[in-house]
Amino acid sequence: MNLLHGKVGLIFGIANDRSYAWHIAEALLGHGARCAYTSLPGEKNERRTRKAIETLPNGGMQGGHEVWMAPCDAGKDEDLDAVFDAYTKKHERLDFVIHSIAFADREWLAPGKFTDTPRAAYLSAIDISAYTLAAMAKRAREPMKASGGGSILAMSYYGAEKVVPGYNVMGVAKAALECTARYLAWELGEHRIRVNTISGGPLRTLASSAVGGVDKMMEATPLKAPLRRNVEGSDVGGAAAWLVSDLAAGVTAENIYVDCGVSAVGV
Ligand SMILES: NC(=O)c1ccc[n+]([C@@H]2O[C@H](COP(=O)([O-])OP(=O)(O)OC[C@H]3O[C@@H](n4cnc5c(N)ncnc54)[C@H](O)[C@@H]3O)[C@@H](O)[C@H]2O)c1
Repeated sequence: MNLLHGKVGLIFGIANDRSYAWHIAEALLGHGARCAYTSLPGEKNERRTRKAIETLPNGGMQGGHEVWMAPCDAGKDEDLDAVFDAYTKKHERLDFVIHSIAFADREWLAPGKFTDTPRAAYLSAIDISAYTLAAMAKRAREPMKASGGGSILAMSYYGAEKVVPGYNVMGVAKAALECTARYLAWELGEHRIRVNTISGGPLRTLASSAVGGVDKMMEATPLKAPLRRNVEGSDVGGAAAWLVSDLAAGVTAENIYVDCGVSAVGV
């Protein structure tokens, strides 16, 4: 329960109570962290995120603090500036940032569509799904330094390394994300800021429903994976809590598989 006592941070990516970010928040709160949240701007998005936060343990609150949520389109520098400014005015420390966001135009996320991906769709996938990690780390650096260090964590997928038909430009963006995390880890390590990615197994969420072929991935995993099952949100939540905690003080620039072992199997 007290693994994360005293730690405070920001979670990007709760769209609803199926989001990986929701499961991460549940685990961090359960281990005693205090969480602040962002949502996509727009009344409908903000209402949906707020509703999901309310279903977290204790309504998403920790230690009697009000729930703090700010709108943020991570594709806009001014939104990121506003979120980090507002966060640091309201919170005394920044110990973690959870990057659990991604976007690619679903039209190009189907088997056979990669070769035709237009330039704009390719660049926007990399912008929102990978560059934003660097953009957040840049803004987290000073408050984390002032907190004596921190942990930045982003969500990836095996399609970064191997061809998963239909994952397409998102696989390219995840490769960029994992590499971005390693370069950030090198530069920020001198401030005791750690940067890691979790490569999570397929989970039914809004984002994964856009990927053509996700049903096949979920059918294949229990047949192939050493653990003979699909991953659950709480599996990723637990690994995230560990990576945010001081138990992982020596872990940085890593990509941790939380996929029931399926990535280790060749056939
Ligand atoms: N679900 C899976 O099978 C799976 C597997 C491995 C990795 N992931 C990764 O996990 C992360 C979370 O996805 P999820 O599956 O929980 O789906 P989700 O749809 O619940 O979450 C995606 C989030 O990205 C946010 N987002 C999109 N564009 C944004 C922008 N411009 N600015 C700010 N936020 C934006 C959405 O608002 C949403 O909250 C993503 O990086 C995804 O690629 C998902």
